[in-house]
Amino acid sequence: MHDTKPSLTALLVAAARAIPGPLPPVDPQLGAQLGGKVGAALDIVASHKATALLARTAGLALVDHIQLRTAALDAAVEQAVHAGCRQVVVLGAGYDRRAWRLATLRECAVWEVDHPATQAEKRRQLQDVPAKADRVVWAAVDFARDDLGAQLAVHGHDPGQPTLWLWEGVTMYLPEAAQRATLAVLHGRSAPGSWLALSYLTPQLLPGGKLAKAVAARVFASIGEPLVGALSRTQMRGLLATSGFEVTSDSANPDWAGHFGGNAAATVLFRCERVAVARRPAGVP
Ligand SMILES: C[S@@+](CC[C@H](N)C(=O)[O-])C[C@H]1O[C@@H](n2cnc3c(N)ncnc32)[C@H](O)[C@@H]1O
Repeated sequence: MHDTKPSLTALLVAAARAIPGPLPPVDPQLGAQLGGKVGAALDIVASHKATALLARTAGLALVDHIQLRTAALDAAVEQAVHAGCRQVVVLGAGYDRRAWRLATLRECAVWEVDHPATQAEKRRQLQDVPAKADRVVWAAVDFARDDLGAQLAVHGHDPGQPTLWLWEGVTMYLPEAAQRATLAVLHGRSAPGSWLALSYLTPQLLPGGKLAKAVAARVFASIGEPLVGALSRTQMRGLLATSGFEVTSDSANPDWAGHFGGNAAATVLFRCERVAVARRPAGVP
């Protein structure tokens, strides 16, 4: 993660939510809010069927995968809010716009937690956009340097009330020790009835084998966001269990395509990213 530059992977993922794919784009206004040449280019790509299809194909169906992942995590938000969570903490929020997009958050306070450089850019984009959430709290935190628990306390998060923790597209950039340390903080601030929804990368070989894996590793490393945090399903389940969270579902893009629509075969390259949803049961220390 660069110290002063906004995250490039956050922008890529956000762009995927602005382009028509198997599902309608959830953030079609991103291009206008980004502005500049990048925003204009995104608008051109998103507004023509042919260019949108070209972007989906050239991106090896990343757009399709991200749209389905977003839908899977939106469903987890619905579930947790329905179960009583009124605090939502978005960790490594990037350009996630759920607080501006989901009416289901109308009674919720949402903490936007991200690296200062990325968060400053997001605040610029959204300064004139009213949130759908009851309240948005901006907490600029560098996970590598700052004390997350202390920052949440300073920003008014209440550990006595159930929280939904959303951790989408971030764990793969953190070594296992850093994931464990973050989960320990979440555990300490999770009242019974809290939920955690995250995506994670499994180390299974991609189609194309070691070569594809090596290429992906090189690409992400070259933009300063190396993929250092892959965990198997068993490892993730164990890590969550030792952090006081019980996994209620663990799914990948074929499952999401079955629920929300889309072509599971197209997204085969990204099947190594999964979504785990877990809850903090009552009576478990
Ligand atoms: C791939 S983006 C995902 C963004 C968002 N969750 C989404 O799905 O659209 C990864 C995010 O992790 C954040 N991140 C990476 N390293 C970080 C660090 N050391 N401290 C705080 N945030 C970090 C980046 O700023 C970026 O927003």
